[in-house]
Amino acid sequence: MPLITENSNIIESKDTPFDLKNHDAYLAWRSKKLENYPTDSTKLVVDIADLGTISDKELRLMQKILQKTNMVIYNFKGDSGDETATKKSLRELAQNFGLDTSEAHRSAGEERIVALEVSDTGSKRGYIPYSNRPLNWHTDGYYNARGEEIGAFLLHCARDATKGGRNQLLDPEIAYIRLRDENPAYIEALSHPQAMTIPFNKEADGTVRPDSVGPVFSLTDNGALTMRYTARTRSISWRDDNMTARAVEFLNHLLGDNEPLIQTIKMQPGQGMINNNVLHNRTGFEDGETGHGRLLYRIRFHQRVQDTRQPTNQEG
Ligand SMILES: [Fe+2]
Repeated sequence: MPLITENSNIIESKDTPFDLKNHDAYLAWRSKKLENYPTDSTKLVVDIADLGTISDKELRLMQKILQKTNMVIYNFKGDSGDETATKKSLRELAQNFGLDTSEAHRSAGEERIVALEVSDTGSKRGYIPYSNRPLNWHTDGYYNARGEEIGAFLLHCARDATKGGRNQLLDPEIAYIRLRDENPAYIEALSHPQAMTIPFNKEADGTVRPDSVGPVFSLTDNGALTMRYTARTRSISWRDDNMTARAVEFLNHLLGDNEPLIQTIKMQPGQGMINNNVLHNRTGFEDGETGHGRLLYRIRFHQRVQDTRQPTNQEG
């Protein structure tokens, strides 16, 4: 049975472990995936000496962790405090991973970078990401139109919160494994082209984002597994089908701290993460004075991470 990807291309089933009929390929992939999978977030961290120009050794380490878990956390200790320089470095950092097509976000400033901080102005008003409230589990851009999905994003901590503001992260491939192992019909239900609908929304500037209808799980043209999900319970409609409801219930159960491979991190200034749009949430937080509170820079990309830059030497 061929599989249809998000761009309506066809992938032959023999090539992918994500075809439910391909049981042997799935088991082989699953066993490799779970072998030595990092069990806590410290194993995802790579120290880097220069934010904009990472060394071959740092790049190799980051690529290796990304290939395993779809995410990596970097730790940069030399933040200059120069906002413009930091933003330029973040773009350069992302380019090492083939990430150069960023989205045109309504709140993006210079370098197409969104500053995530408590804000009550303009297009940020009323949106939870710009408040100190908790953010429930989701993947980014789950309401985007087909063809405008978010493949990867970079999140960089410029200032941390006084209290709270932790992130939890879960590799979508782990979620897939748990669901498929529990009941393959869950995967079938969540791969249905009408599995999840986010109704249209009228933006503050009067523009209307139409209904977003699509699957939770789908494959890219390269055969990579992608996930589109939100744990929100308002302004969402799931396909009216018993198996879909059970699959969503099981997934929410996993995300309710019943999955040992959920990673937890409170990013410190200078730390950040690059990931293939993994499932994530954020706890609520408390800040210091206005203008000095938690500040994260975010860049979202339509591509996924690629190993485009090959290390140039064998050192390290
Ligand atoms: Fe997000």
